[in-house]
Amino acid sequence: MCIMKLDLWFPTPVYSVMIDSHESMNAQLTEVIRQHQQQHPSIQASNMLGYHSQSDLHQQQDYQGLVSELNHAMREIESQEAITQPCELVNLWFNVNPVGSHNAEHTHPRSDWSGVYYVQTPANSGVLHLQDPRDRAHSQELKLKPQQETNPRLWRDTRYQPQPGLLLIFPAWLRHSVGINLAQPNGEASDRISISFNFVQKWFD
Ligand SMILES: [Fe+2]
Repeated sequence: MCIMKLDLWFPTPVYSVMIDSHESMNAQLTEVIRQHQQQHPSIQASNMLGYHSQSDLHQQQDYQGLVSELNHAMREIESQEAITQPCELVNLWFNVNPVGSHNAEHTHPRSDWSGVYYVQTPANSGVLHLQDPRDRAHSQELKLKPQQETNPRLWRDTRYQPQPGLLLIFPAWLRHSVGINLAQPNGEASDRISISFNFVQKWFD
């Protein structure tokens, strides 16, 4: 029996929700994304062998259904996190990861909240990896039981299994990456399609 009091400080919030109307929205988004991909070259960011669109898609009419869902979610987070000035959606882009591609570890500098919405996620097309943001915790390297036998508060990394309609929002400083797409067979149906975005708090109205 533990007789010592335990305080847990500085947790990392990761919000998630399944969007109700995701099937119809994703069908429409897939069409728009494929058209865009044919008409514009990829940008190079964290994408390794995958396609990364330009990041101003939140201004386009075709994405307003999703933008509305993101703003709705952000209002709830502002309430939960005691945020006084609203956070504004400042950019939005999509990634298409074909078989063999992945996204390298990164954060989203100059933003406050970031997130991802999943459009198409075939089996084995890459999980989202999140790292313990306390860098010094990684240097400790204590011998621990296997992760499945430990309390999540002891983990140094965790992962989310993507699924169509899932929306995740987390602090922009949280280091993350996407695993290699190992879906079978190769082809458009095996592509992993996600939409990422950033929110920044308005300092003045
Ligand atoms: Fe990211």
